Amino acid sequence: MNTNPDSSRVARRLGVNVDHVATLRQARQARYPDPLAAALIAERAGAAQITVHIRGDRRHIQEHDIVRIAASVQTLLNVEAAMTEEMAEILERTRPHRVTLVAERAGEVTTEGGLDVASQQDAVAAFCGRLFKWGIRTSLFIDPDSAQIDASAIPGVDMVELNTARWSETGTRAELHRLAHATERGIASGLAIAAGHGLTLQNLRPLVLAAPGIEEYNIGHALISDAVFLGLHESVRRYLELLE
Ligand code: PXP
Repeated sequence: MNTNPDSSRVARRLGVNVDHVATLRQARQARYPDPLAAALIAERAGAAQITVHIRGDRRHIQEHDIVRIAASVQTLLNVEAAMTEEMAEILERTRPHRVTLVAERAGEVTTEGGLDVASQQDAVAAFCGRLFKWGIRTSLFIDPDSAQIDASAIPGVDMVELNTARWSETGTRAELHRLAHATERGIASGLAIAAGHGLTLQNLRPLVLAAPGIEEYNIGHALISDAVFLGLHESVRRYLELLE
């Protein structure tokens, strides 16, 4: 494993996922707190991207959030969505800068695993082809497995986001190795590499050091949780420091 953070160094970007600002709003069916306000603070603090996940059950982000955030961000809006017809219609209407296709199971507390691209490559390619036609850049959220990486080298897909859930749950060197290997394999296939899920102020830096080729990190739950005590601007700053 490569432990030198400056070797094959890429400029690392932080995508701030503001879903849980909307979770708080939806808990009261209120107008606040506004995920757009959070997005603007995150950008001012140095975020390179705002990420939101529009779920089938609309438990947090709503379509109107996507419209408002897309119209106001100075950076990029990355929308995570499942590969359903309902989502295709929303994405065609709203045309965010980027879409990350995720697997979604009704009733799950959070995303449980990566999209199984290997077993449905034709369907994924057809969905990505539609997004490409609408001018949307596409990323696939996948588990850090060779078969998934190889299957993700699809025309119109320029990035994969590696699922870091197992790293966040186990904290083992084996998981770091797995992510580092998947990163190198993805780069060799011409894909840009993002990572996300379960990343915290504690487990982010070891991953940055182990897999310096990861160029984008999408972080939500821990960053917004830290913001409750630190304020959002300071929370974003602390995550950014770990990406330097
Ligand atoms: N990336 C993807 C594809 C996700 O689905 C999520 C959760 O919505 C995240 C990143 C952020 O994960 P977390 O909220 O655990 O930081």
